[in-house]
Amino acid sequence: MTGDSTTDDGRTADVTTPEEITAAVVASFADCPRPRLRLLLERLVHHLHAYATEVGLTQEEWYAGIRFLTAAGELTTAERQEFILLSDTLGLSMLVDALTHEQGGTTTESTVLGPFWAAGSPERPYGAAIAERPAGPATRVYGRVLDTSGAPVAGAVVDVWQNGDDRLYAVQDPSAPEHHLRGRFRTREDGSYSFVAVRPTAYAIPDDGPVGRMLAVTGRHPWRPAHIHLRVDAPGFQSLTTHIFDADSAYLDSDTVFAVKPSLIRAFVAHDGDAPGRPAGTEGPWFSVRNDLVLAPASPPRSEGS
Ligand code: BEZ
Ligand code: FE
Repeated sequence: MTGDSTTDDGRTADVTTPEEITAAVVASFADCPRPRLRLLLERLVHHLHAYATEVGLTQEEWYAGIRFLTAAGELTTAERQEFILLSDTLGLSMLVDALTHEQGGTTTESTVLGPFWAAGSPERPYGAAIAERPAGPATRVYGRVLDTSGAPVAGAVVDVWQNGDDRLYAVQDPSAPEHHLRGRFRTREDGSYSFVAVRPTAYAIPDDGPVGRMLAVTGRHPWRPAHIHLRVDAPGFQSLTTHIFDADSAYLDSDTVFAVKPSLIRAFVAHDGDAPGRPAGTEGPWFSVRNDLVLAPASPPRSEGS
């Protein structure tokens, strides 16, 4: 200390009211050499302090929050990301999605990636099945990948993954073949892609950790409506992460991660077992769903201080 209220680094030490505490912490980032990082931290502190002040956060509540975050950290591994689940269930993931992607344009809308995508899915031929063991009624998924003028995008990679009739994704089930219910498909010259999926099922997000407890004590359910995930990549286009939602599924109006967009809901059309076009190697009634995917052109790189 150099005087009555100034520290050696020149900062004022007699900071006692809520307003003074907030102002001092915001000011502590003034010399941050990265403008974007400075903005992110100053505004984070501003809003975090405003929240605590508005609700009159108690010591017990502050510590309960610390315990909650500690439990989320202890549970998080390469396979289980409790913080993304927290972001998803608090709607932050979809808020960032909405801030990132243009609304109401002509391109296919995006939605959450979720925790069950895995790198290294096998490339499979046009029309191939992704189920490596029985997992539900066969469902032919087909469509074209197009640009915003309606021209086909040839050579796009459509990476797909889904759950089966036991509600599980392969990465959740040690008994499942590694690449079960997943695959990558390359579009043909006319932009077409096709694969044989199974009818997906509604399922509960992993709810055996702090996020699940948060949902339970607040009276929220952990369910997501049935969907198939798609991630589309093509040179010259923005990559697209999206879903096909089953129009007949429960929970379309109460997805626990707020990820349903009406434009992504599709009818799964039922066919009799003897109807023409039944996917090879399957038996009994089957379904089909058509889903064209419209990609946005790649945007020029953002230049900004960070
Ligand atoms: C999923 O769709 O797989 C998912 C998304 C967010 C949280 C949990 C699961
Ligand atoms: Fe999913």
